[in-house]
Amino acid sequence: MNNRDSILKQAKQWIIEAGELIKSEMHKPYKIDTKRDRKDLVTEIDQKTEQFFVDQISTKYPEHKILGEEGMGEEVHSLEGTVWIIDPIDGTMNFVHQQRFFAISIGIYHNGIGEIGLIYDVMSNVLYEGVRGEGAYKDGKQLDPIDPDKSLTDALVGLNNFWAIPNRRLNEKKIHDLVRKVKGTRSYGSAALEFAYIAEGIIDAYITMRLQPWDIAAGKIIVDEVGGITTRVDGSEIDMLTGNTVICSNKAIHESLMTFIQQKE
Ligand code: IPD
Ligand code: CA
Ligand code: CA
Ligand code: CA
Repeated sequence: MNNRDSILKQAKQWIIEAGELIKSEMHKPYKIDTKRDRKDLVTEIDQKTEQFFVDQISTKYPEHKILGEEGMGEEVHSLEGTVWIIDPIDGTMNFVHQQRFFAISIGIYHNGIGEIGLIYDVMSNVLYEGVRGEGAYKDGKQLDPIDPDKSLTDALVGLNNFWAIPNRRLNEKKIHDLVRKVKGTRSYGSAALEFAYIAEGIIDAYITMRLQPWDIAAGKIIVDEVGGITTRVDGSEIDMLTGNTVICSNKAIHESLMTFIQQKE
């Protein structure tokens, strides 16, 4: 991608502007709908924010493709060329119920390779940034590589509620065993922020049985830059065009988690 620096600068400007848009809309009445079920929320503000990115990107970079959660972009069937993978509000449940702990997530891929990852914690006004080969940053300050020696028993592990929901869980007993094995668990309600927290070194792993490309796209790039690994739970590569199981952590914990999940009772 030859104009990566200028795209990065532009994307950072738009993500801050989109944050302002969300902040200016969130205290007025807005429509809330459900998608798959009553726990899967979407608001007018999710859609407006994604539309903001689609309008900006399609005007400035008409040849780029946009894969967004709310479907305001076009249908994307291949990662050829430059693709913006966007979650306009990651953590909509937090947004609606808590008015905080949500993020805007943008991953920019070129011919399938993650080049730029941005995760913006809107209410805290904190921007995480990763650029392939150039490191990961929190508000412009470079993040240290994550601890390669931290083990699963010493890890704080991000988990989510899907484990407990029939058809989405891996196995009830597994989750019990995992909770006993690790040092502690956390459930933040925003996948993007969980990736950012791994990059920052304030949690050590994230494991989930179902995420979409827009939940992962930016986070994977940022975590890669601090020496972390993100794959499906069987160790295969993440597919940025479809749903994935995910383990994200350092190499040691990643291996332990894969072994743990694959072990028979
Ligand atoms: C959700 C959040 C949540 C994760 C779900 C995602 P959304 O994204 O990241 O933490 O557990 O799997 O769908 O719907 O709020 O953008
Ligand atoms: Ca959603
Ligand atoms: Ca999401
Ligand atoms: Ca979302």
